[in-house]
Amino acid sequence: MNDPQMFNPKKPNNQLPLLPTDFNYDNVAILKQVNLSNIALAKVNALAGRLPDSILLVSPLLVRESVASSQIENINTTVFEVFEAEVMSEKKKGPAKEVLNYRDAIFAGLDLVKKRGILTTNDFVKIQSIVEPNKHGIRKLGVKIMNDLTKEILYTPPEGETHIRDFLANVEEFINKDDDGIDPLVKSAVFHYQFESIHPFLDGNGRVGRILIILYLIMAKRLDLPVLFLSGYIMKHKKSYYECLHKANSKGDLLDVIMFMLRAIEEQAEATVITIQKIEVLMNKFKSVLAKKTVFYSHELIQLLFSKPFMTIDYLQGNMGFSARQTASKYLTEMVKLGLFQSKKIGKSKFFYSKEFLKLLS
Ligand SMILES: Nc1ncnc2c1ncn2[C@@H]1O[C@H](COP(=O)(O)OP(=O)(O)OP(=O)(O)O)[C@@H](O)[C@H]1O
Ligand SMILES: [Mg+2]
Repeated sequence: MNDPQMFNPKKPNNQLPLLPTDFNYDNVAILKQVNLSNIALAKVNALAGRLPDSILLVSPLLVRESVASSQIENINTTVFEVFEAEVMSEKKKGPAKEVLNYRDAIFAGLDLVKKRGILTTNDFVKIQSIVEPNKHGIRKLGVKIMNDLTKEILYTPPEGETHIRDFLANVEEFINKDDDGIDPLVKSAVFHYQFESIHPFLDGNGRVGRILIILYLIMAKRLDLPVLFLSGYIMKHKKSYYECLHKANSKGDLLDVIMFMLRAIEEQAEATVITIQKIEVLMNKFKSVLAKKTVFYSHELIQLLFSKPFMTIDYLQGNMGFSARQTASKYLTEMVKLGLFQSKKIGKSKFFYSKEFLKLLS
């Protein structure tokens, strides 16, 4: 345990206790909440698995998560702008670019986990380099965590690259073994706290730490797809989030941080269930309108329309394999006439989008 008497926020915390920290993980409040969180998580996982070509459809949902996660770091942009940037390569810079980096980092992480079934320090480093290409790598310098407003020093993470790497090796060991009797959801909270306390990078520790929770739950087989979006919750409850991390540091008490994360998982999983159900309803509406009123309804087309909230003629042509650009143009124009899509002209490019779909994603 961190000795509360010894805690000095201004001194590098090279005494950070190793995992698994000495703590009663079978606390009744934790056991009750972990049960509820697991039920909610299983529900969203099952529902997401039912979506046709799930991984394609998860991508737009991840943009919302990426926007929320980046907002915690004051990278301000809207879901709308990110989708726009995604289709307009010349707009891929600034805040929207950073948001897309976050999403790319999740996908890269997924690849790593799926290929090898473990997460290592090299993976943490790789993920951070995608999130923060300009400040990548394990830090050689010391950093401080301060109160944004008062600039009061709240916590000083460990210093020295070797120390940092040793702490990370301990995190690695903790997350890659599954015989310690601690529920993976509880473990996700514990290692998230530990990772943030190690604070291995100059920047991007929060974003990488949030990505690691999702990847870990996938590795632990609690999720098949990255459909747990915690950032909105963390942003909404940022004060409590910082307080529970601080309490764990200063008092060595992990209860609040575990409860915080378990509640976040339950609430966010339930919210995503509702979003996915609404997307399914909207897809069904598209299906029935296209099947009744056009000659070009196909399953493949519906999937594609819901994989990118902003369509262009070229995107549709390329992905549907139409030989004539005109075919794609005709389909999109017809869908606008049917009220399924709206269109918008930016510079020389024309975009097509469903207002209802965008609303579900923002
Ligand atoms: N007292 C604390 N102890 C340990 N970690 C903390 C503490 N207070 C905040 N943190 C962590 O530090 C993160 C911020 O660090 P950093 O700026 O490197 O990450 P970021 O991804 O750039 O920012 P953000 O998380 O705000 O988006 C927070 O998200 C939080 O997880
Ligand atoms: Mg930062």
